[in-house]
Amino acid sequence: MNELAENRVVITLFGGVGDLARRKLYPSLFSLYKKGYLGEHFALLGTSRHPLSDEEFQKIVRESISKETENQAGQADKFSTHFFFQSHDVTDAEHYKVLYKRIADLDEKFGAEGNRLFYMSVAPQFFGTIARNLNNKHLKPSKGFNRLIIEKPFGNDFDSAKKLNDELSETFRDDQIFRIDHYLAKEMILNIEALRFGNPIIESMWNNNYIDNIQVTLSEDLGVEERAGYYDESGALRDMVQNHIMQIVAQLAMEEPVAFTDNDVMYEKVKALRSLRRYSPSEADANFVRGQYDADDKGGHQYREENGVDPHSNTETFVAAKLMFDNYRWYGVPFYIRTGKKLADKFTRIDVVFKKPVIDIFKNPHGQDNDSQNLRSNVLTIYVEPTSGFSLRLNAKNAGQGFTTIPVDLDYKQSDEAHDETPGPYERLFLDALENNHTNFASWPLIAYSWKFIDVIRNLWDIEKPDFPNYRPGTMGPKASDDLLARDGRHWIYQAQNHQDEINKNHH
Ligand code: NDP
Ligand code: BG6
Repeated sequence: MNELAENRVVITLFGGVGDLARRKLYPSLFSLYKKGYLGEHFALLGTSRHPLSDEEFQKIVRESISKETENQAGQADKFSTHFFFQSHDVTDAEHYKVLYKRIADLDEKFGAEGNRLFYMSVAPQFFGTIARNLNNKHLKPSKGFNRLIIEKPFGNDFDSAKKLNDELSETFRDDQIFRIDHYLAKEMILNIEALRFGNPIIESMWNNNYIDNIQVTLSEDLGVEERAGYYDESGALRDMVQNHIMQIVAQLAMEEPVAFTDNDVMYEKVKALRSLRRYSPSEADANFVRGQYDADDKGGHQYREENGVDPHSNTETFVAAKLMFDNYRWYGVPFYIRTGKKLADKFTRIDVVFKKPVIDIFKNPHGQDNDSQNLRSNVLTIYVEPTSGFSLRLNAKNAGQGFTTIPVDLDYKQSDEAHDETPGPYERLFLDALENNHTNFASWPLIAYSWKFIDVIRNLWDIEKPDFPNYRPGTMGPKASDDLLARDGRHWIYQAQNHQDEINKNHH
């Protein structure tokens, strides 16, 4: 076993039998266990109101990791012996006494040396309550570390996010709080920094002299599935834009950090967001587009007919927007963003569109007008998921007689082996929190700026009634999203095959 196996910790997981715990957290911990980052000195205490014995809980954990345990049943059994359960209502202050005793016992039994990691994987209205109770009941040991991982959403507007942050701060110092944004832990999002700051050829052109626009697309083909109750309250703006997209945009826009440390990176990201143009309501109206999906031809419901959704819901399942930065690097360069449910496909990509040459010397050879020779923009595409890689589109000479140009792509795709080796976001984040590395977590100042920006749009949308539904499943959203770019003489680089046909057929 390597040195990292010495991570000593008792993890207390509020929401221990919830969807996130079963689907993401236990498989991630198992992966860390297999790799030796967790060994004999860790224990996890799962909680929920529903009573379970330790054995029943261990069975749930084994089931949760069954996909990753082919030929590893022995290791899975051993892993599950580190899991314990405590029936606990997070709102009942008395219950924390029992919890404290269990944590102390597990600490003793597993030699965790007082290291405590609390993970809030429950509904967000409980986050503040848990933090307060942990404080009141003096759960914090005198030695070892106390750390808190908190799931999204971090508030639902600036005021509620601030209140939550204040509540957490009563118990935990900021450097003990790890606010999850799992997009920050995706391999290709991390790669943005390597690509920019490891390559002078890229970074020297990463500004408004060379870049025409940047496009960020987080596309999902599924609808709201099991999470309609949460989603109908949240909508795409809060669910995806305020957190994941704003983080990605900050990473793309930031200046070079002094060093690649969590504080330096967080500082630059916040600085970038501070220069994001804060829209007035009328500017927000012009620069933001919302959509809600309709029924499809294959029996798929309208959003408003989904189980758990208000039949008159005005919740948006799609957002597109144009963001502008008022700083020297980015002045005049739009960052177009879009995300939605029931779109053409499940993928995340970033397209960095460079300016065309100001003069196209190939356009009119020998005085003849020849449209086929128009030079295309160079585009750097960062494929985040499902493919991991990037490509650079260049103009090259078309082979053969004469002189015409064609676009060619320089492609890099991560190998299957590298892909298999890559830890999933939750695995990476667990380890980061154990190693006290904040780089891939959301910082409070960035969350605060992001909410202040988003609140203007949300307030506007809460007053104005939209014309929903307005896009067909399987497309890339409503026509207004295309118009947003078309009015600037631009277009989305990624186009879904049937998008235009469907738009012409159904919605205007
Ligand atoms: P679930 O509803 O599946 O699980 C919630 C858990 O909380 C259950 O174990 C439930 O058990 C427990 N719980 C509810 N009320 C109490 C209470 N009063 N005291 C103690 N435990 C309670 O939620 P998810 O796992 O889906 O989500 C958890 C968190 O993760 C949320 O903040 C969500 O926003 C976030 N998240 C989830 C994602 C996902 O894919 N699921 C993705 C991104 C974020 P019981 O009823 O027995 O008490
Ligand atoms: C979550 C959102 O944060 O991200 C979900 O709440 C969304 O609505 C999910 O489906 C997408 O994450 P990923 O990693 O599957 O792209």
